[in-house]
Amino acid sequence: MTEESPGNLSLQEIATARISRRTLLGGGLAAAAAFGFLGGPARRLLDSSPPGTSAGESGSLLGFEAVAPNSADGLVVANGYTAQVLIPWGTPLLSSGPAWKKDAANSADEQAQQVGMNHDGVHFFPSAPGPAGSRSGLLVLNHESADQALLFPDGPTPMTPEKVNKGLAAHGVSVVALAMIDGAWRAVDSPLNRRITGATPMTFSGPVPKDHPALASNNEPMGTLNNCANGRTPWGTYLTCEENWDGYFGTASMITLTKTERRYGLSAAGGGYGWHTADPRFDLAKNRNEPNRFGWVVEIDPTDPASTPVKRTALGRVKHENAATVEGQDGRIVVYTGDDSDGEYLYKFVGTGRWREHLAQGRSPLDHGVLHVARFGEDGQGAWLALVHGQGVLTTSNGWADQADVLLRTRQAADAVGATKLDRPEWVAVHPKSGEVFVTLTNGSSGPTPVNPRKPNPYGHIVRLREAQGDQGSETFAWDIFLLAGDPLYDPAVKLDAADIFGSPDGLVVDPDGRLWIATDVSNSALLRADKGYDRIGNNALLAADPATGDIRRFLVGPRGCEITGVTLTPDQETMFLNIQHPGEATAAVGAPTPANPRAVSNWPDFDPAGRPRSATVVIRKEGGGRIGT
Ligand code: FEO
Ligand code: CA
Ligand code: CA
Repeated sequence: MTEESPGNLSLQEIATARISRRTLLGGGLAAAAAFGFLGGPARRLLDSSPPGTSAGESGSLLGFEAVAPNSADGLVVANGYTAQVLIPWGTPLLSSGPAWKKDAANSADEQAQQVGMNHDGVHFFPSAPGPAGSRSGLLVLNHESADQALLFPDGPTPMTPEKVNKGLAAHGVSVVALAMIDGAWRAVDSPLNRRITGATPMTFSGPVPKDHPALASNNEPMGTLNNCANGRTPWGTYLTCEENWDGYFGTASMITLTKTERRYGLSAAGGGYGWHTADPRFDLAKNRNEPNRFGWVVEIDPTDPASTPVKRTALGRVKHENAATVEGQDGRIVVYTGDDSDGEYLYKFVGTGRWREHLAQGRSPLDHGVLHVARFGEDGQGAWLALVHGQGVLTTSNGWADQADVLLRTRQAADAVGATKLDRPEWVAVHPKSGEVFVTLTNGSSGPTPVNPRKPNPYGHIVRLREAQGDQGSETFAWDIFLLAGDPLYDPAVKLDAADIFGSPDGLVVDPDGRLWIATDVSNSALLRADKGYDRIGNNALLAADPATGDIRRFLVGPRGCEITGVTLTPDQETMFLNIQHPGEATAAVGAPTPANPRAVSNWPDFDPAGRPRSATVVIRKEGGGRIGT
């Protein structure tokens, strides 16, 4: 069994691996119960993990030696840790599935049976409560985008219907059963293994139902695209967030874009995929409402492979980064989500009533609640402004038809109520003990304002919110700037040691001990370039911060051209699953992959002289055992 081929485990082998047969072979409610999905902890990050030992028990949460910045084509992790590559792009979902072809010759149909491209947000769902749940479970991960220079043997030109279909199949979500066998994590065969792609049937719920006229299109509702980051609900489902969906649409016809279309970034030229030239589904002149089906948070039940993913419209239509989900003091569900474009906003959905009661009544807690948007005051105080039809300026007389209209035009509703523009709000993470909310603002030019103090801001920063009365459902908060990223050589305001300089924070996860994991996404237009202030920072990296002490250390450096994306841990915190996205992407300081030389920037992780770089999940373990980061 190789890492590229999921193990074809016999039942005896599964038993030997101490994997519950029911959890790997079952589905639906039984599997949900076996995976420990039912019920959930209150008032802490609703992750799969129990609280670890207290923050600062040993004086610092960070027990490893920082890794120096580097620009090598490899993966460097802190001394005393190991990194194992798992499920790279093209790995067959089942051992009987189509094998990966290193010249990218797999068909669209084959790609739909393989792990997708460009791994992003990820969550580990343990198979069972207790120690067994740290040795087997389901890994659910997003495939944000496709690097079309690498996806096809001959590159993207000319675009064809078959190429569009392969592109669609490379996007979406993978559900992959994993087990630790003989001390190493492996993908294993399971009926729960599943691909959700840009062509999978979808439905809608909340104020914008499936049959809403704005969603009427030439094809059935299908597909989720540009699945950036993610969330996890306390009832055991996975949330995948649609980010830069506008880029898939375009047209060669003469059209006049509406104000709303322009506000969401749609254009006749499109975002470079060229799909509209080969598939009328993505031609704005032929299928004008199709874009309205994107920009949502999508809920997936990983334990039911027959389930239809649901776009939860009450959470708004923007370019969602992730969906950090916690419980308010009174049992309400709370979901934080950033809208990653320059000058966009931070949102918070607050459920109405207890989420457990909604579930007990057969309703989704994500269909009942109020979407808010953040206003950051100059005095360090802030307010969550409700986006509710009929309230404030969002009235019929002001042109807002109903709540569906407010949600279909979420960005404009947020403009109208006076939300605060931010330097590209990316991930949100909630501290499991303090309830503090951390938000990465990756870079931008919205300032200078108190909350965006630099203009331009090429390095980004992290903002911290403290909700009033310690209730995540509160309508007001206090805020401050947790840290400014960057290099003091170019910006003396940056207070980072030379070994720990970084820029463009993006991924953000707090572990049960309170360790803040920061994944960077320096654009490949700036990476390694002195004229962009990025020559000393090296390749994209994963850092850890101790919010109590302010200590920050670089934990891992990725290969050339990659960004570091999703992070998730087993309940015992002894395994970290980390996604490495788009190694080998066109990088101004290095080069650009071509069909003739797909390895121009990187050849990670295979280093096959006839291969090509591949996004992958990496398994991080501590030699001799122990919690990651200690
Ligand atoms: Fe998909 Fe904003 O990162
Ligand atoms: Ca991201
Ligand atoms: Ca980013």
